Amino acid sequence: MAIPAFNHFLDLAELSSDQFWGLLRLAKRLKDERREKGANEPILAGKSLALLFQKPSLRTRVSFEMGMQHLGGYAFYLSPAEVGLGSRESAADVARVLSGYVDGIMARVFAHQDVTDLAAWGSVPVINGLSDFSHPCQALTDIFTAWEVLGDLEDRTIAYVGDGANNVATSLMMAAGKVGLNVRIVSPAGYMPTAAVVEASGAEVSVTDDLDGVQGVDILYTDVWTSMGQEAEREERLAVLSPYQINQSVLERTGNARALVMHCLPAHRGEEITDDVADGSASILFPQAHNRLHAQKAILAHLLGGVPLI
Ligand code: CP
Ligand code: NVA
Repeated sequence: MAIPAFNHFLDLAELSSDQFWGLLRLAKRLKDERREKGANEPILAGKSLALLFQKPSLRTRVSFEMGMQHLGGYAFYLSPAEVGLGSRESAADVARVLSGYVDGIMARVFAHQDVTDLAAWGSVPVINGLSDFSHPCQALTDIFTAWEVLGDLEDRTIAYVGDGANNVATSLMMAAGKVGLNVRIVSPAGYMPTAAVVEASGAEVSVTDDLDGVQGVDILYTDVWTSMGQEAEREERLAVLSPYQINQSVLERTGNARALVMHCLPAHRGEEITDDVADGSASILFPQAHNRLHAQKAILAHLLGGVPLI
């Protein structure tokens, strides 16, 4: 039976496991196609994507621009100062204006409500390129990377160490729930996910403040302790989260000589992760970053190109 299509990519809670797997398989097809033939079919010829940013970016901006180009389409960057989403103009008005010009909107915002408003008021697909609540493009990429490296993900376990309440941790749990990957959140009190997020993820999630939670896991994952927009809390966060650094000793504490290390990047090296681990043999940080391109091409092919999920 065909997998139902979806119209926006705002949050993984809105996607079924079948739709998520459909995206993973499409990402693999597009990645393989480019590797084998040197290029993708121009399935987005004549299509355009606006990249709307309220926050800085390297990976998200460049991977979406290049992803559109690989598929024959066109993308352009709109800076925070230019658009003034929510200050110069409301998300509702921005969405209605852009919908007359482009075939899709990718937005990186502070308030998650802004991406939902863009989708509600516009008439073109909207992709969440990170909000304070979630980072679904990252999590799709992370699972795609884990699937590539580990193969079957059923009964594998990933430990997310650090700020377990942030956008990356939230989306990682949601994504894990789609593929049967078990999650351990290892975070201090005050930085643990809410019961509502754990419940919504549908994943097998355990939450602890004890670093022994990393024992036996297949993957260690971390992200910055101070996310964009939380800069005023930096000192307080450093003090509470510093015992949760991923270093050689935490890697050894997994007891798994084949354990892998992931990080969505950018990293604050020397804070949440040490150089020796980030650059060591367990690290898959850069293949993970590169996969943003392939995972997002699947989202674009489906939303803007109508490529069915199979
Ligand atoms: N991981 C990620 O989203 O990176 P950027 O902030 O550089 O886009
Ligand atoms: N949690 C980080 C992720 C950056 C890609 C942030 O929101 O700043």
